[in-house]
Amino acid sequence: MFKFKIQEGLKVIQPGQLVEFPVAQIRGDFPILQRIVHNKPLIYFDNAATTQKPRSVIDTITNYYTSYNSNIHRGVHYLSQLATDDYEKARKIIQKFINAGSSDEIIYTRGATESINLVAATYGRANLKSGDEVLISYMEHHSNIVPWQIICEQTGAKLIVAPIDDNGDIILEEFNKLLNDRTKIVSIVHISNSLGTINPIKEIIDRGHRYGAVVLIDGAQSVQHAKIDVKTLDCDFFVFSGHKIYGPTGIGVLYGKRAILEKMPPYQGGGDMIKSVRFERTIYNDLPYKFEAGTPNIVGAIGLGEAIDYLHSIGIEAIANYETRLLNYATHVISEIPGVEIIGKAKHKSSVISFVIVGIHPHDIGTMLDVDGIAIRTGHHCTEPVMHRYGIPATSRASFAFYNTFEEIDYFAESLKKVIKMFS
Ligand code: ALA
Repeated sequence: MFKFKIQEGLKVIQPGQLVEFPVAQIRGDFPILQRIVHNKPLIYFDNAATTQKPRSVIDTITNYYTSYNSNIHRGVHYLSQLATDDYEKARKIIQKFINAGSSDEIIYTRGATESINLVAATYGRANLKSGDEVLISYMEHHSNIVPWQIICEQTGAKLIVAPIDDNGDIILEEFNKLLNDRTKIVSIVHISNSLGTINPIKEIIDRGHRYGAVVLIDGAQSVQHAKIDVKTLDCDFFVFSGHKIYGPTGIGVLYGKRAILEKMPPYQGGGDMIKSVRFERTIYNDLPYKFEAGTPNIVGAIGLGEAIDYLHSIGIEAIANYETRLLNYATHVISEIPGVEIIGKAKHKSSVISFVIVGIHPHDIGTMLDVDGIAIRTGHHCTEPVMHRYGIPATSRASFAFYNTFEEIDYFAESLKKVIKMFS
């Protein structure tokens, strides 16, 4: 299928060269990393699925429930004020983190999936009509495919898919050819969860705008690995999940430009999203509350704010730098193992290595690595079209975070060699 080739520009960094990144100290911040699994120290390489939580986030959650659990925006009492303050403080932390113009542009959701569904169901339903087009790419997660299929079915718009090449890069010439005056929405993943490709989103956003389309960027796999500046990017929407950025599950973010969010109809009806309710007419609340019906995930938002503060304490640039070195090292080490074929060889990649081994099903690989205490993900990674593109049912995927080490990668490679030996 693919001929193995080390990525161009790949530089192997030896463990000794990384003393400047305080990984040992950082590991001490994550209690779960001390765990023993099947009598082996846990090696957690499933960070693209979800990340582990630093003690500060865990303590924040415990502290919320032990000392000021209360509903927000509804009570004049002391605890409610505390909860409301922290919930809104977290919104400002998120605003600064992605450099949004206002915290009103930060909408809390359940995760990246709900954020995309919100845009499709509100912006999509209000703006798409028969003959219009929504442009995505072949490497999208199901959460950036199915919401558009649903809304296209309801409005008569058409879903258009930009192809990718064998390396796992979007074919930009083809993408450009697919843009036209009918393109109303472009929705593209920043970093692919199954291939690791980093897409040229600035170029994609600018091109989409030239045709008058709004552009949504799925940042579920990027916000934890790279500095995001939504103003510089000029994207219309940017979405991400809290649990992939060291925060709790069940909380996520939709960033949208104020002018667009203001024109969008609400997503769900209920408490908090209204100014007044009469049977004749309901007046909706201002941003961001217009999109936050019902009691939200209060502790989730506060925990996410804490997770971002924790990342700041290390520095997102330092994190990105260390993770790039981890990826390059792992790519080199894994590529050297006979029989292993990496799926996704884009020039610009981040933190994910998907691979297949001829003759061994990914589930068997995952199960055997688990016996050695190594957690990876196997399957289609919610990107079935990517699997079809490469003619494979599934891959094994190792995905890294800044608490992983070079020694863990070495151990992983040795374990992988044992698996291959056992099956040969
Ligand atoms: N989308 C998540 C992953 O890639 C769950 O594993």
